[in-house]
Amino acid sequence: MSRKKVRIHHFKEMKQRGEKIAMLTAYDFPTARAFDAGGADILLVGDSLGDNMLGMESTVPLTLDEMVPFARAVVRGAEHAFVVADLPFGSYEVSPEQAVESSIRMVKLSGAHAIKFEGGRRIARQVRAVTDAGIPFCGHLGFTPQSETALGGRRIQGRGDHGIEDLVADALALQEAGAFAVVLEMVIAPAAKAVTEALDIPTIGIGAGPDTDGQVLVWLDMAGVGEWHPRFSKQFGAVGQAMVDASAAYVDEVKAVTFPAAEHTFDS
Ligand code: KIV
Repeated sequence: MSRKKVRIHHFKEMKQRGEKIAMLTAYDFPTARAFDAGGADILLVGDSLGDNMLGMESTVPLTLDEMVPFARAVVRGAEHAFVVADLPFGSYEVSPEQAVESSIRMVKLSGAHAIKFEGGRRIARQVRAVTDAGIPFCGHLGFTPQSETALGGRRIQGRGDHGIEDLVADALALQEAGAFAVVLEMVIAPAAKAVTEALDIPTIGIGAGPDTDGQVLVWLDMAGVGEWHPRFSKQFGAVGQAMVDASAAYVDEVKAVTFPAAEHTFDS
């Protein structure tokens, strides 16, 4: 059966019929092609691009203009998947006008289908302005890496007397402002469950337990690239080691002059 292009209305339908949404980050054309072929519903051009791919210390220094070429490459590689692009820190917080301008710039220059940025009630006016401009919006609550300093580090969210109540209120504010989905990052499982039950739109968890309507992972954590992976992630491959092994085999053959062989050589 040929696979259909994933469109915005499919997400609510998936929640209603209990089909989980599978989202992965992607930052370039070959990974977008691979994960699209693997059946991912959503490809997220996350601002984790900054620390995971560009060697930055965090997501904070990344700019909108730095993100655009990566988002454009992912869009080119996504035949079926829905592509969501992050707005980086500093490109939406100032005002609804700034958020709309940045979202339009990202969508126009990259072709991304939707925008995501971080926060709940405090950025609800921005979300309303973006969705009123006709741009689909995905929220991001819980641990929000752009506010890591203000949150006191990489801390699990939803704990404490009002933890669950606050998350539900933030999520309802995003839904009310027109969001089509909400990512929940590093929140205790009962909080993720409460938010998921409170919303009509789907939740997509990362370190939020099994009760969300979907899951997302940074692809390097999912595929086993790099030395460190968060406890909530699972490595479904050993791609980092496969790359070391392939490059070592190549180096060996170049040194031993067994590559290129006759079949790799143009004689005339
Ligand atoms: O930037 C990113 O990769 C993200 C995911 C962690 C959800 O926002």
